[in-house]
Amino acid sequence: MAAANAQEFHDRMLSLGLARVSEAAAHASARLIGRGDEKAADQAAVNAMRDQLNMLDIKGVVVIGEGERDEAPMLFIGEEVGSGNGPEVDIALDPLEGTTLTAKDMPNALTVIAMAPRGTLLHAPDVYMDKLAVGPGLPKDVVSLDMSPSERVRALAAAKGCGTSDITCCILERPRHEDLIAEVRATGAAIRLITDGDVAGVIHCAESDITGIDMYMGSGGAPEGVLAASALKCMGGQMWGRLVFRNDDERGRAVKAGITDLNRIYSRDEMVTADVIFAATGVTNGSIVRGVRREPNFIETETILMRSKTGSVRRMVYRNPIR
Ligand code: FBP
Repeated sequence: MAAANAQEFHDRMLSLGLARVSEAAAHASARLIGRGDEKAADQAAVNAMRDQLNMLDIKGVVVIGEGERDEAPMLFIGEEVGSGNGPEVDIALDPLEGTTLTAKDMPNALTVIAMAPRGTLLHAPDVYMDKLAVGPGLPKDVVSLDMSPSERVRALAAAKGCGTSDITCCILERPRHEDLIAEVRATGAAIRLITDGDVAGVIHCAESDITGIDMYMGSGGAPEGVLAASALKCMGGQMWGRLVFRNDDERGRAVKAGITDLNRIYSRDEMVTADVIFAATGVTNGSIVRGVRREPNFIETETILMRSKTGSVRRMVYRNPIR
């Protein structure tokens, strides 16, 4: 029975509020586009996101945030956000996903936030995650993190009924991915290399007919992995992630976050175990949403707002007069 209980996670009612949060962060960081100052751009987004978040009627806890409490004064992991009235929720956020993209005025910088009932988002520590994602409409577990990169390409091509040369993979351009890139290229598949922004990279898989990207693979931030899983849960598509540790300090972070099996492969629904809402606003122009547009008298943003319960995906243009 749908009782009128203020403590329920009213995802439909909360979603517009979430869009406002990501819009505000984009507005704030837009002033710093192309200014070469990653820190300032990030800080502007953090401040704006936090102010807006605190206006929402939620009892929120940041589970994916700007870092540990001693590293980040705002939006740190464990910070309580919201008015304190309303449902208990987990918040995953990246106020500016693509600080370098913003500082250099390069495409696909986004402000990103997801919200779900308390205890349902993976508390991913700030380490790397090996990620693999494909779009909707494919057999379950069509590819896996245990396959080699070339096996994944071949399995995906077989499932799509095409040749390996018809597959395009998206990969972060990093020295650590040299072997991965070489192996994928050897299959004949194409690669779209991105310099940053793997949340957008994963989201591209959900709309492969528009973006041309069939599969995302490679390691990037684990926090971004949970955000990407939230987005794919709304849009459809499969994703897997396995934490990658470079030293004992990183293993310690995972243990502190409550993770016991350090080698576990998390599926999308193990990273996000209940209904989630997700909002991302473009800061610079990108293939998912347009960046912030300034006109003499107004400022315009585009936001993608989605709910996993319904699979609804909205693209919202918000125009705000400059006073
Ligand atoms: P920032 O927003 O913190 O700049 O992160 C951008 C990003 O490219 C992420 O999308 C990605 O997960 C991560 O950095 C990759 O980390 P690294 O730059 O260390 O390879």
